[in-house]
Amino acid sequence: MRESIKVFAPATVANVTCGFDILGFAVDQPGDEIMLRKSNSGSVNIIQITGDEGALPLDPDKNTCSVVIKKFLSDLGLEQGIDIFLDKKMPLGSGLGSSAASSVAAIFAINELMGSPLRLDELLPYAMEGERVACGAAHADNVAPGLYGGFVLIRSYDPLDVIKLKTPEHLFATLVHPHIEVKTKDAREILRKQIYFKESVKQSGNVAGLIAGLLTSDFGLISRSMHDYIVEPIRSILIPGYNEIKEAAMEMGALGAGISGSGPSIFALSNDKDISKKIAVEMRRIYTNFNIESETYVSRISQNGPRII
Ligand code: HSE
Repeated sequence: MRESIKVFAPATVANVTCGFDILGFAVDQPGDEIMLRKSNSGSVNIIQITGDEGALPLDPDKNTCSVVIKKFLSDLGLEQGIDIFLDKKMPLGSGLGSSAASSVAAIFAINELMGSPLRLDELLPYAMEGERVACGAAHADNVAPGLYGGFVLIRSYDPLDVIKLKTPEHLFATLVHPHIEVKTKDAREILRKQIYFKESVKQSGNVAGLIAGLLTSDFGLISRSMHDYIVEPIRSILIPGYNEIKEAAMEMGALGAGISGSGPSIFALSNDKDISKKIAVEMRRIYTNFNIESETYVSRISQNGPRII
């Protein structure tokens, strides 16, 4: 049996325009790295967190990684001391699934370290618990694609029913992360609690269209379906330059664009890698004009979840 393990877990784009809390996909990078080491302390301790500028709690009852690991050990009746070393290789409050990457890395790593007693699908509720600690809601649209890789649909939360969708081979995401922070908890609180029947019909049509388009590699259908009538009008107000970035991406040939998770990152999907790269350059240029620092990532829809490094 291993004494220690190091795991990488990827960033994810949740919602994917019309699919609030039910659609998400994984990207190749960025992502988080966690190292777990067995100890004789009999308890779960966070030894070191790097890359977070001191923002994350070191208290094992408040940190997503340690909460997830403690629950796993307690549910399985395992009395194993664990030392945690977390390297945040992606920004917090960015909309790139930062807390999800940590939760996924933690649950995947502890399961491997203890000899894989649980299957991948049994790990998902633990990773969702990490999201509850981070933002108050156990949403799965970051942790599910983070854990399974690929493009994922959460058909139901109760009971949990998660489906990995086939996607066209040539599908690329461009992400831009402007250096402002939007907390998922706040971005959820500002949403309307009720929506109109008419809006629900339009939104459902788009979710169905997007999934049908992905399954049949119908890029026109994917493009027509990437609209969000419910969340984007409210949340986009929190993101400077949002309309400019989205318009530029569409003019340059993106299939669609929207807020990544709860923002402020913005994503665009394209079926051509060169277009994705050009969109990234333009996104940065626009933020430079706004005097806002940013970084961009171009990635295919990654089929990979966490991996041992
Ligand atoms: N579905 C979640 C939300 C994703 O939009 O609040 C958060 O990354």
